[in-house]
Amino acid sequence: MYRTHTNGELRIEDIGKVVTLCGWVQAKRDLGGMYFIDLRDRYGITQLAMGDFDFSIGREYVIQVTGKVVERVSKNKNIPTGDIEVVVENQVIDKDNHVSSLTILNKSKTPPFTIENETDGGEELRMQYRYLDLRRNPLRNNIELRHRLSIEVRKYLDSINFLEIETPYLIKSTPEGARDFVVPSRMNPGQFYALPQSPQTFKQLLMVSGYDRYYQIVRCFRDEDLRADRQPEFTQIDCEMAFVTQEDILQTFEALMVHLFQVTKGIDFDSFPRMSYADAMLNYGCDKPDIRFNMQFNYITELVKGKGFAIFDDAESIIAINAENCASYTRKQLDELTDFVKRPQVGAKGLIYLRCNEDGTYKSSVDKFYTEDELKKWATRCNAKAGDLILVLSGETATTQAQLSALRLHLGNQLALRNPDIYAPLWVYDFPLLEWNEESGRFHAMHHPFTSPKTEDLTLLDSNPGNVRANAYDLVLNGTEIGGGSIRIHDRAVQSRMFDLLGFTKEEAQAQFGFLLNAFEYGAPPHGGIALGFDRLCALFGGQETIRDFIAFPKNNSGRDVMIDAPATIDKKQLDELNIKVTL
Ligand code: AMO
Repeated sequence: MYRTHTNGELRIEDIGKVVTLCGWVQAKRDLGGMYFIDLRDRYGITQLAMGDFDFSIGREYVIQVTGKVVERVSKNKNIPTGDIEVVVENQVIDKDNHVSSLTILNKSKTPPFTIENETDGGEELRMQYRYLDLRRNPLRNNIELRHRLSIEVRKYLDSINFLEIETPYLIKSTPEGARDFVVPSRMNPGQFYALPQSPQTFKQLLMVSGYDRYYQIVRCFRDEDLRADRQPEFTQIDCEMAFVTQEDILQTFEALMVHLFQVTKGIDFDSFPRMSYADAMLNYGCDKPDIRFNMQFNYITELVKGKGFAIFDDAESIIAINAENCASYTRKQLDELTDFVKRPQVGAKGLIYLRCNEDGTYKSSVDKFYTEDELKKWATRCNAKAGDLILVLSGETATTQAQLSALRLHLGNQLALRNPDIYAPLWVYDFPLLEWNEESGRFHAMHHPFTSPKTEDLTLLDSNPGNVRANAYDLVLNGTEIGGGSIRIHDRAVQSRMFDLLGFTKEEAQAQFGFLLNAFEYGAPPHGGIALGFDRLCALFGGQETIRDFIAFPKNNSGRDVMIDAPATIDKKQLDELNIKVTL
């Protein structure tokens, strides 16, 4: 037997026991002839004490020790095993064999960074030695949280009759959405599989097959630009239900989330607030508002136009937010905010401010165009009080909303209004069905082509397709989209009409999605579903926005796995077998 206990297990009650432990040497200390080792494994740290020390033992050596549990003289209140230590000495294990009570199971080179909560290793180095980084507590906690959440999801969905069903990874490329990762087929020269961006069509087919509650914790693949909350391969909790309305789906998955919050975080929620897409855009300038803080948009367009300030006079919309208690911002701080909105990622031309001074006076960057009385009206519109700072952007409506949304979030961060320990879930519903794509000069499905239009908007499909709303919804948590879904089209004619609108010819639609259109002719039930981004869910439950450290072996920002060095070239022989010529 390698070990009798783990390193997180021993307590004061175990005093007097002879135990055998295994683990990694986290630290060694020499306290005047007494030597101490912090022995680490997945479960914790146990202090070893010895009088006699093998000086060849270094950090991250894997050792096995046998010794007696004793009460510590100076206790460590910060760790669960801090009341005890294990005294290790050379001892007689049985009558004939003298066995050392410390065995080196394996040596270790000095690790390239410290294996501690706060490490000195840079991002790239830690990615290269991911297996060492995973030894650190913060990562281990994340991986354990991920496990806990996945178990709870499975338990909960199983308890309400969902079946976990696997769908294929080698499927067919589809033109909608992000780019596909493709896989060449050796047996079918010149032909390619695509890895699924999601199991969307398969889960709909399962509804046609009668498996009316499906879920899968499933890997999805998307060849898109990466960000903190995006990986090229990521995991969804993918779900679909038949014979349901939008309300049924929102309630079912809200209950799942309430359960997850309850069991993993001890937080109770009654119900999640809901907001229409139109209101989200109007009041927060984005479809995934962070409602942990207020700072809603105020439209001051008609108040400020026509006073000779050309920038406002030429603008379609002039929108203001109120940064409470920020009137004392210095010139430097205001310049920093102006620089922020002028960054290419935000793209505003400038920022106008209005200080509502403590003494009741007003000071703006456009004083020469507006009287004190006029400025006061801005303040009233924005519900600003003495001591507040109003920030204004102007221009084309949608662009200005997006820019002001970025500024709102920036201020939210700066003013510590985005506390990761506070959770603010939100359903956003009534998304538009279509969005115009300038590049291709046609409509794209905002969610995906299988989403049903709202019945009351059907008449707009011909006259004003851009204004048709969909039975589509997102689940937003702290300003991150953690899930999205819709009630689907289940009627062949409506689905064909949708492909039409998206610019597919009849032949293209049949070639791409014939299997689904055909299935709809064999008794497709009304159905709908949702997919939750599991990595994002884990990250947010772990109080972070970056998903990378909630995935054991993630890709870096350029989509590379720097540890195994992928992607990589392949052998000429392999290429030949696949009939692929590389012309780089
Ligand atoms: P959607 O494309 O909105 O919907 O994806 C669902 C959720 O998956 C997460 N997500 C990602 N997470 C990490 N990295 C990525 N690259 C990434 N892309 C998406 C998000 C998102 O909300 N089939 C539909 C669902 C449905 O209609 O039922 C779908 O895939 O949290």
